[in-house]
Amino acid sequence: MPWDKFANIEMAFTFGDVILLPGKTQVEPSEVDLSTRLGEIGLHVPILSSPMDTVTEAEMAIAVARMGALGVLHRNCTVEEQVNMAKAVKRAESFIIRDVVTVTPDDSVEAARAIMREMNISGLPVVVGDRLVGIITRRDVYFAENGNQMVKEVMTKDVITVSPDITPQEARKIMSRYKIEKLPVVDDSGRLVGLITAKDVFYRESHPFATRDEEGRLRVAAAISPFDLDRAKSLEPYVDLLVTDVAHFHNENVIRAAKRIAEEVSVPLVVGNIGTYEAAEEIITRLDVIGLRVGIASGSICTTGEVTGVAAPTLFAVAKASDAVAKYGSDVAVIADGGIRGPAEAAKAFAAGADAVMLGFALAGTKESPGSPLIVGGKMYKVYRGMGSPSARSKRFALDRYSKPSKDIAEGIEGLVPYRGDVATVIDKFVAGLKAAFGYVGAANIREMKEKARIALLSSVGAREIAPHDVKPMEKFSA
Ligand code: XMP
Repeated sequence: MPWDKFANIEMAFTFGDVILLPGKTQVEPSEVDLSTRLGEIGLHVPILSSPMDTVTEAEMAIAVARMGALGVLHRNCTVEEQVNMAKAVKRAESFIIRDVVTVTPDDSVEAARAIMREMNISGLPVVVGDRLVGIITRRDVYFAENGNQMVKEVMTKDVITVSPDITPQEARKIMSRYKIEKLPVVDDSGRLVGLITAKDVFYRESHPFATRDEEGRLRVAAAISPFDLDRAKSLEPYVDLLVTDVAHFHNENVIRAAKRIAEEVSVPLVVGNIGTYEAAEEIITRLDVIGLRVGIASGSICTTGEVTGVAAPTLFAVAKASDAVAKYGSDVAVIADGGIRGPAEAAKAFAAGADAVMLGFALAGTKESPGSPLIVGGKMYKVYRGMGSPSARSKRFALDRYSKPSKDIAEGIEGLVPYRGDVATVIDKFVAGLKAAFGYVGAANIREMKEKARIALLSSVGAREIAPHDVKPMEKFSA
């Protein structure tokens, strides 16, 4: 009965196939709240940076967390390298630094100077055992008579300290009152247990919506193979979230392996990629996870669909996964992954049921993405490559993204994207476009976007009409 295959044929709509219809609105774009949740993790900006080796290492993760989004560190490296990236994010900002670098009173001033220079820090608590006895700053070192003097001869002995339960606001007040940049934190028995720096207090104020953990450190996620329990365990102390990184999660062996990780590792888990209702249903009913990474073969660097003829375009996949989430009354987050070039695709993903979007292309080419810019024909570019591209595969750490027989088939490409400058500016623009879309639809937040948005089909002729047409853009004349 070959024709049955076509009788109930599914329509796998893609972002380009549809538009959102404007709705009556009382919502000004500036009032739109884009915050979202992944389990216990709240995000002010519903964006995750993709775990790709030309998108997310520590620098990107730090920058996007400061913006209120979340970075997912790639896994195309040794476990140690990935753990070091996570540690770098955690160290980037913390209200109270716990692993404080110290000197003793009998150290030489020269030794203190060397530590400050090497670690790029401007002051060191002075301790005997774990008891605080003074503090030495760059100024003390600068005005010392010579480097052979001992720390105890130049340090400040009368140190202003605070207790571990201090709030950021109180710390700021004390720092301004006494015009000091370092506040050692001591417990009841005078033991040094931490250090607060003016820089960290200032950062908190300039990034009030940053994605932070309970200790005020930036949050970070990391990609893992579902088969790599050791990597997951090594990352566990340093990350807030683990994200499986496989091209086709709906596979019995993969699900079983991920189940073991979910049971043995305390960090919450996002799994994927998936593309169908059935895959979402199976995960919701079998695994304890907080999110689904949804979309197969829509990525800008992706050749899976072309090579294999199999795909679950992100918009279609998100709609299907969201149906399963709704049917089971689950609070698992749906993360739309692949093909989101800008706010237009993101708005459509939220309308179809997404809770957050994962971006590769849209964040590649920024200052914070790994690699240096290249100049080609007088213009600046950065490399962006799929994790299934031949060059990414040659590093071999992420080979198990793909199934065994296809290990030698490229499922991604490598290319150049224009250099875009700071990721903060890129995200600001992205958020502004997204808020405008929510305003047109009349949705004040993501929940309302899912409920209120009306999605309409567009023909390819129509797609041309809603983009600029007939007029030659001015920049083409100046080029
Ligand atoms: P965008 O469109 O944001 O897509 O650049 C990023 C997402 O694409 C997936 N990805 C790949 N898919 N072959 C694929 O089929 C690849 O080589 C590849 N590399 C990444 C991944 O889900 C990512 O977040």
